[in-house]
Amino acid sequence: MTVRELIQQACIDRVEAEILLADILKVERAWLFAHGEEAVQEPALTVFTNHVEARQNGEPLAYLLGYRDFRSLRLGVNRDVLIPRRETEHLVEWAIECIDAGAQRVLDLGTGSGAIALACKSERPAAELTAIDCSAQALACARANAQSLGVQVKWLEGCWFEHLGVAQWDLVVSNPPYVSASDAHLEQGDLPAEPKSALIGGQTGLESIEHIVEHTPHYLVPGGWLLLEHGFDQADDVAALMQDRGFRTISSRLDWSGQPRMTGGQWQS
Ligand SMILES: C[S@@+](CC[C@H](N)C(=O)[O-])C[C@H]1O[C@@H](n2cnc3c(N)ncnc32)[C@H](O)[C@@H]1O
Repeated sequence: MTVRELIQQACIDRVEAEILLADILKVERAWLFAHGEEAVQEPALTVFTNHVEARQNGEPLAYLLGYRDFRSLRLGVNRDVLIPRRETEHLVEWAIECIDAGAQRVLDLGTGSGAIALACKSERPAAELTAIDCSAQALACARANAQSLGVQVKWLEGCWFEHLGVAQWDLVVSNPPYVSASDAHLEQGDLPAEPKSALIGGQTGLESIEHIVEHTPHYLVPGGWLLLEHGFDQADDVAALMQDRGFRTISSRLDWSGQPRMTGGQWQS
């Protein structure tokens, strides 16, 4: 079967079929257009057919490819980690503003693939990055990404702050689980394939955020920042939690699609 026929017959989004085939053949996507009449040989043919079938059955493209591009980095991903999102690139942008304003000791809570910590460290090498996750499998993925990118981050396995002692941080940044356990979105798109522990923030969706807002002040220097990603309809709740806990200069920012998807504030002890 030719390149053109294979792509035409794949019952998935055409661009995704092109990305998958280009990845399997180890060529640029543009190559496919110039070589449409070329025959695709085994084992590429079988691998492509299996990937198309898996995609039809809901397997996320990123897991099939084994990577997701995040800011300037290509991050390895698998079913143990959340697929890094574009909204989170925006959270990194805010974190980098804080680093540029003097925050050098940075803590990434719930690091998953390591996306936030690795992006901050690779874009601001002088910053000291520590990243925590409760999932040993997620940390294995994050460590592998750090190694292949040659980026230094201190990785800790634990439940939120449990192994931090009395450490003081200039910036705590987190994209915690924030979907309600009863949210119908959990059955849509890529979400059914992603780890539930990376998505679900209890019945309300706010439980992880409440815990982080409550405990972060013990680990922040005066004037230190807490930046949190959250759902599009949670900004007011998160801002209120931060206000009640004693954070100041609280504000929310919009993501690429204009939704308020991250809220941050400074700790004034
Ligand atoms: C929404 S994912 C974010 C992953 C990554 N930071 C990103 O933005 O792509 C949330 C992460 O928090 C981790 N997590 C959930 N509960 C946790 C806990 N109690 N302590 C530490 N990490 C936790 C999950 O394993 C998951 O990797």
